[in-house]
Amino acid sequence: MTINYDVLLENLRDVFWAMDQEGNILYINEICHELLGYHPKEVLGKPLFEIMCPRHEYRVGSCVRLVEQMKVRDFHKEKLWMLHSNGETRVVLELNSRRIEGASGALEIHGLGRDITERIALEKANKQASLNALKALVAAVEAKDVYTQGHSLRVAQYAQTLGKCLNLTQDQLEELDMASMLHDIGKIGINDAILTKSGILTSDEYAMIKEHPVIGGRIVSAAGFSRDIINAVMYHHRHYDGHGYPLGLDMVGDNTIVCIISVADAFDAMTSRRSYKPILKRQQVIDEFLSQSSKQFCPRVVTALIKALTETDAFDGCVLKGDDDLAHYPLG
Ligand SMILES: [Fe+2]
Repeated sequence: MTINYDVLLENLRDVFWAMDQEGNILYINEICHELLGYHPKEVLGKPLFEIMCPRHEYRVGSCVRLVEQMKVRDFHKEKLWMLHSNGETRVVLELNSRRIEGASGALEIHGLGRDITERIALEKANKQASLNALKALVAAVEAKDVYTQGHSLRVAQYAQTLGKCLNLTQDQLEELDMASMLHDIGKIGINDAILTKSGILTSDEYAMIKEHPVIGGRIVSAAGFSRDIINAVMYHHRHYDGHGYPLGLDMVGDNTIVCIISVADAFDAMTSRRSYKPILKRQQVIDEFLSQSSKQFCPRVVTALIKALTETDAFDGCVLKGDDDLAHYPLG
């Protein structure tokens, strides 16, 4: 049997392309027109990055950098967010690429991109449905105790402010938002009498409370959330210097999302009314964070918080200033 590869490639439902070592397109098949709006003839010889979208799940930066990476390593099942030539339609391709020696002996990179746009949209819808269900559970847990009502929502708001101060990407901000909303989901597995106890906890009760990050980690893992979100839930009570809990589990690297949630969580505890402590005022909050910088908290996030507290009005509505009347401050 003789296979006509030209016919095969032209009828392929996946995008097949070849580029030279300069990153210019040597060949691209017909489906490129249907998926991305470019006729193969009009893009031949042009840089590959020109038909790509400047957005990528793994945050490698611009498409120029991504093309550069393809010259030095092969890609396997990498998700690529492309933009149709109409400038509006997003197309997600699952990319496989290989570096090979071309007929002339020069480096060529051959790639195959499968359209997974519908699959990604479905996954996103499923993830949103899981998130909504878990948010309802978090709200149910917090509703049992007047002092923690709205805690996760406030932590999510503070975390977003800090994340923007630290120049997180849109993808990271979205992960941060989900992780913040879910960080205390594990409290659903803790006895209500302990969660709502107004007096001092016994050591046994405190040991049980300390189970909630691991329980939460199991819940978000089972719900299919990303490794970053699972880590954030599991390690939001681990300190920057390695203290805190849970012990015996290694936090993966310097996790920015974990560090931000840790600060936002503590900030809400300091600035909300709790049964066992007074609300701290602005300068007390600043002093507390400064004293724990590089200990409990990541210094980079502490710096961002203090900058936002002292140089902007980002936190004006949620922290008491010098002479504010406590009676006017909302409960929780
Ligand atoms: Fe917690």
